[in-house]
Amino acid sequence: MNELKTLGLYTSGGDAPGMNACIRAVVRTARYNNIKVYGIKRGYQGMIDDDMEELSSRSVANILQSGGTILKTARCKAFYEPEGRAIAADNLRKRGIDGLVCIGGNGSYTGAMKLFEEHSIPTIGVPGTIDNDLFGTDFTIGYDTAINTAVDAIDKIRDTADSHNRVFMVEVMGRDSGFIGMAVGISGGAEAIFIPEEKDEMTKLIEHFNDSSRRTKSFSIIVVAEGDEQGGALALQHQLEERYPDIDIRTTILGHIQRGGRPTARDRVLASQLGYEAVRALIKGEDSKAVGIVAGQLTYTDFKDAIAKSKKVNPELIRMAEILSH
Ligand code: F6P
Repeated sequence: MNELKTLGLYTSGGDAPGMNACIRAVVRTARYNNIKVYGIKRGYQGMIDDDMEELSSRSVANILQSGGTILKTARCKAFYEPEGRAIAADNLRKRGIDGLVCIGGNGSYTGAMKLFEEHSIPTIGVPGTIDNDLFGTDFTIGYDTAINTAVDAIDKIRDTADSHNRVFMVEVMGRDSGFIGMAVGISGGAEAIFIPEEKDEMTKLIEHFNDSSRRTKSFSIIVVAEGDEQGGALALQHQLEERYPDIDIRTTILGHIQRGGRPTARDRVLASQLGYEAVRALIKGEDSKAVGIVAGQLTYTDFKDAIAKSKKVNPELIRMAEILSH
C-alpha cells in the first residue's frame, strides 16, 4: 500500500446543501494528515479541463453554513467516454494526485469506478444528493435540509389553503424516488402522497374524496413527487378538476428551491462525519467504496453495490401516512 500524498476532491451531479461542510471536512482532515489537496472544479469536467486549485485549511473557512458547492458541479458527458477519462487521468497524474474523494450520487460513482478500472486512481465516494436514494447510507447529505425547506413551504401553503377552502397539490423533487415525498407528506400533514414507488395512489385518493366523512375537512394538501407516474402535480390537478369540478384546486411546484439554502445542523454533522471518514478510508488504502452511516454505524459500500442496489421507502411509513390522513 502506497502512502497517500495528494488528494483530489470534487462534487458531481446535482448539488446538495451540506456539500460545502463536507468539502471543509475533507480538506481539514487531509491537511491534518499532511496530505496535499486539490479542489477540482465542476466535477469530471474540471478533471478533463485541468481546472484544479490547491486548497488549504484556511481556504475552506466560513463555508460550513452555506448551500451549493464552492467547487461547482456539472453533469459531464465527455467522461462517459474512455478518451475523456484518459485525459482526466493524465491531468490527475501530472499533479501527483493519488486518491480522490467524490461527493455525489450514483452517476458520479460510476465514473469513479471506471477511472479506477482503467487508470488505477482510487476514489472514495461520499453520498451527496437531496433525493436520499443511495444504497449504503440511511441518509444522504442534503436530504434533511431539502425536506425541511419543503415542509416550511407547506406550512405557509396551509394558511392560504385553509383561508380559501382549497385543495393544494405540492410538487416536490424526486425524479426516481419518493423519500422526499414521503417525509414531506408525513411532516406536512398531507392528505395523500404520490411517489414513484407506489402505483395505486389515484384509486385511493378517489375513494378518499368520495368518502362523505372527508367532506368535513376545509382544505387538503396533496404531496406529489415529480417522478410519480401520474406526470407531476399539474397533470394530477387536471385529472382531479375533471372529476371534481366543484373543488377549487391549486398547484405549487417547489422545484430547485429544495436544492439550495443553509444546511440544517443534521446535514452539517453528517457531511462533516462522512468527509472525515472518506479521507480516513483513502489513507487506509480503500478504493471504489462509498462511506455511509447505517443504523448509527460507519459503513463502506462497494461502488458496484451502491450503484446496483436500491434503498426502499419504508412500506410501514406509507401505510401510516394513509391512516394519519383520515
Ligand atoms: O439532485 C437530484 C434531483 O434534485 C432530482 O430530484 C431532480 O429531478 C434533479 O436533481 C434535477 O436535476 P437538474 O437540476 O439537473 O435539472
